[in-house]
Amino acid sequence: MTLYSRVRPLAFKLPPERAHNVGKRTLRAAQSTMPTRAALSYAYQYEHPALEVERFGTTFPNPVGMAAGFDKNAEVTHALEALGFGFVEIGTVTPYPQSGNERPRLFRLREDRAMVNRMGFNGHGMERVRSRIERDGLPEIPLGVNVGKMNTSSESEAIEDYRRVFDRLSPYASYVVVNVSCPNTPDEFRESSPEHLRRIFETLEAENDEGKPILVKIGPDSTIDSILELVDIAREYGVDGIVATNTTIERENLTSDGCDEWGGLSGDPLADPSTRVIRSIAEHTDGDVPIVGVGGVDSAERAYEKIRAGASLVQLYTGFVYEGPSTAKRINRTLVEMLERDGFSSVEDAVGADLE
Ligand SMILES: Cc1cc2nc3c(=O)[nH]c(=O)nc-3n(C[C@H](O)[C@H](O)[C@H](O)COP(=O)(O)O)c2cc1C
Repeated sequence: MTLYSRVRPLAFKLPPERAHNVGKRTLRAAQSTMPTRAALSYAYQYEHPALEVERFGTTFPNPVGMAAGFDKNAEVTHALEALGFGFVEIGTVTPYPQSGNERPRLFRLREDRAMVNRMGFNGHGMERVRSRIERDGLPEIPLGVNVGKMNTSSESEAIEDYRRVFDRLSPYASYVVVNVSCPNTPDEFRESSPEHLRRIFETLEAENDEGKPILVKIGPDSTIDSILELVDIAREYGVDGIVATNTTIERENLTSDGCDEWGGLSGDPLADPSTRVIRSIAEHTDGDVPIVGVGGVDSAERAYEKIRAGASLVQLYTGFVYEGPSTAKRINRTLVEMLERDGFSSVEDAVGADLE
């Protein structure tokens, strides 16, 4: 029995957003002194050369990252590093602070090992995030910065939002993700429409003197044809990778209370739909475009499925809520065993192994 399996029933008695905030405060306290940070690293980090992945000019010590949304304001990047994650994506960061949607806006679907959220881009805004990174310093693992628009922005204001957050935070980023796939922000216009995407990529390209890798995060809910159209546009502009996928608005075969709350569904029920999107993109691009696979990863088996379907890196959020602080370590340790079992010398070797 792990410590977390005893703590979880207590944490799950709290409303989900409160539990999240308590968890984050604990991590923030733990990262603030060297002895506790070192104790976490000792307990939770796992290193193996077979886990190392090199993509868009960055070396990732292992392929398991914390997905966007968990550390929106860059408060616990060092603690997540100590917990054995191979990279952390902060954000979505918007230009100004935003309070997001009314509470409650986060729901646990326990029997389905899932969550529904309609947070609505709550966050401290780019200036506070920037000063926090300056104060805390960067973690040693790669840092992704996920950038977004204000909820009230019009189509042209949105372009300016992305540009400003990119300009302010990309100097700290190993890679930047343009998030055009949030299902719970007001839908004033279609964020992932081809014309809008072209304008975003053109604008960021002009801004990108340092040549930072730029990725785009897509949702699972469009038809495969429109997803692949979006991927083609991204390639046309030399975008460095695709993060697939964000949460889904679909609700199929769910049994838990809260499953009919509106918002984005994450966790176990998203695992197969997101893997299908990853496989389609990998097949369509012949594995040429790096894919960060996200959706329902809570075990090495789930991570491995996505890697074999074409993802070079994976991320998780909901799996961490259900599995606790040792999630990254357990996934990485078992992943090494699975690679050895199947005759792969490294994660890199297994990327896309299931593709025809
Ligand atoms: C509470 C919550 C907040 C999230 N916030 C963001 C966000 O701000 N930006 C983003 O790109 N994705 C966000 N996500 C989506 C996750 O990054 C991820 O794509 C999704 O949850 C699927 O992964 P999972 O099944 O491992 O949770 C959020 C997810 C959750 C559960």
